[in-house]
Amino acid sequence: MTALDQTYDIYNIKMSQPKRYTITAALPYTNGPIHIGHLAGVYIPADIYARYKRLTGNDVAFICGSDEHGVPITIKAKKEGVTPQDIVDKYHAIIKQSFEDFGITFDNYSRTSAKIHHETASEFFKTLNDKGEFIEEVSEQLYDAEANQFLADRFIIGTCPKCGNEESYGDQCENCGTSHNATDLINPKSAITGNVPSLKETKHWFLPLDKHENFLKKWILEDHKKDWKSNVYGQCKSWIDDGLRPRAVTRDLDWGIPVPAPGGEGKVLYVWFDAPIGYISATKEWAEREGKDWKPYWKDENTKLLHFIGKDNIVFHCIIFPAMLKAEGSYILPDNVPANEFLNLEGNKLSTSKNWAVWLPDYLKDFPDKQDVLRYALTANAPETKDNDFTWKDFQARNNNELVAIFGNFINRVVVLTNKYYEGIVPESSNFSEIDNETLKKIKAYPEVISSSLERYRFREAGQELMNLARLGNKYLADEEPWKVIKQDEARTKTIMFVALQIASALATLSEPFLPFSSSKLKTILGFENLTTVPNWLDISSKNVLLPSGHEIGKAELLFSKIEDQEIQAQLEKLEASKRANEAANKVIEPQKETISFDDFTKLDIRVGTIIEAEKMPKAKKLLVLKVDTGIDIRTIVSGIAESFKTEEIIGKQVTVLINLAPRKLRGVESEGMILMTESEDGKLVFVNPDAATSLATVANGLTIS
Ligand code: MF3
Ligand code: ZN
Repeated sequence: MTALDQTYDIYNIKMSQPKRYTITAALPYTNGPIHIGHLAGVYIPADIYARYKRLTGNDVAFICGSDEHGVPITIKAKKEGVTPQDIVDKYHAIIKQSFEDFGITFDNYSRTSAKIHHETASEFFKTLNDKGEFIEEVSEQLYDAEANQFLADRFIIGTCPKCGNEESYGDQCENCGTSHNATDLINPKSAITGNVPSLKETKHWFLPLDKHENFLKKWILEDHKKDWKSNVYGQCKSWIDDGLRPRAVTRDLDWGIPVPAPGGEGKVLYVWFDAPIGYISATKEWAEREGKDWKPYWKDENTKLLHFIGKDNIVFHCIIFPAMLKAEGSYILPDNVPANEFLNLEGNKLSTSKNWAVWLPDYLKDFPDKQDVLRYALTANAPETKDNDFTWKDFQARNNNELVAIFGNFINRVVVLTNKYYEGIVPESSNFSEIDNETLKKIKAYPEVISSSLERYRFREAGQELMNLARLGNKYLADEEPWKVIKQDEARTKTIMFVALQIASALATLSEPFLPFSSSKLKTILGFENLTTVPNWLDISSKNVLLPSGHEIGKAELLFSKIEDQEIQAQLEKLEASKRANEAANKVIEPQKETISFDDFTKLDIRVGTIIEAEKMPKAKKLLVLKVDTGIDIRTIVSGIAESFKTEEIIGKQVTVLINLAPRKLRGVESEGMILMTESEDGKLVFVNPDAATSLATVANGLTIS
């Protein structure tokens, strides 16, 4: 038995035996920087897991890279008047830097434009093609004659056949997550010209998913029913229940990996065919650099392959990529695919196009030394089982009330008192009290408690357990009050401080996956580099002493600092400003209508009226039925303002009414006039509000009729 086995044995730790792990994190698209949603959903949990697996003695390859093909990149390039390569070069560098800045410890961060990837993906395609795993078929695909181009994926927008979302893309609906063929869309339109596309024949290679249905059914619905997250399992089940169909794995595009087969000229591999193979090429690239063999990481049955992704990637990682791997024949399949749901921001969906996001480079500019705070807040609030909301207030509270008030405060007290009483030397302990023994026992349980959460991909829970260890420390100090005891009992004080220092040491080690920057700072403060044996994750469960008497620690240094209200306010204002800027940029200003004569104008009979009754039109979201006193009569006017006003708040209101408009039936109710509305500066619908004394001619000046 090795020492490690004994540890497992004696303390009955439910961690698995040391193993080889291939851990992948979704390759981000390289058409923009990354934001907190990406970090919370994929990269932080993946990094916590990878760090934890390394700390517990496993052989880990943590793999990621830039996903540099696909239509969005070519669209962005076109918009900016540069080449797709320019776009991916720019964002590859920015994204890679962000990952480094936030302490994401990929063993390799590669890119799909790399030569090794083009070769690996080509090879993979050829193998499947040679094995007869594809169907080649000429079919009619959507074509934009004006742009002289086939319309694949995001080049086409239309109504989702499943949920009715009118802005679904050709390959995937962002509203319901369904992945479909472009020809399935209802009312398709070209994203390039806006034209209604025509159909044109073209040949493509299809992966017959239906052929793998039985295997997928057993592998997912039986073998992984228990260990996959229910959100992941549920999506897979609904996919399989809907029936699997062949999927095109090639496209008529000029950006991507050329199809390596006769008849493939002018065509490329579908981005979702080549990108997951990027995990393999990135592993190869890493192994070459490190002088290792890449094959066991992808071909040895004992290796655990894990894919960390967001929920919109589930079908690709649980159905399509496994079908590809299975068809190829020599690869292992993922053991688990711990996908997260989505993170919202201040109540709204994160959106790149609407600039409703917190971009990592921006965050770092505003909070240059607070990477761990974001890691912690996003872990505490991770969208593990349902979509979750990130708010700046919560971020502030996590920092001020937990990291500063609990973790930081405990460490600071221990370090300051050790320096004050013993010039930084860990004191000798004498008789442990019952509370001391209990506390030391509790510390020993923490590695297992945290591991058990991490093994089940419960990162929020794991992060809270870590904080509970700091709470234990705080409570211990508050109960034992060394600052009082020192006045009467020096030996007892030494024992208390000894115990507190053990808690601090356990925190230094166990916080590493979650708060890597603070953990490393804390290790320096505690003088870990001068220890002959630095406590590791497993030692905490097995050793009685992590920081021995006589060891010298360093001076106190703040691990965390308070975030003030103004800083949070500034972030909220920044978000509002970007929302306004975006709305302004997207505002369509209607051109002026045809000129009318003064005679036309004088035909309008505009008067001041008073709303005396208001009711909602049944089954109409936008309509109110109003009774308006016009001064000459009381009449019914149907007005499309129900989304902007409540009925009770407009009764008694003076309004401007066009009274000689020809009556019109709206939903069966005759409307005898029109209430004049305009838009306020912030885009709200408001009444053209007549001041009773104003003459009608002035009121009519410069108003917009809505
Ligand atoms: N680029 C994709 C996205 O951001 C993820 C690709 S994951 C991979 O949604 F498996 F294809 F690499
Ligand atoms: Zn949909």
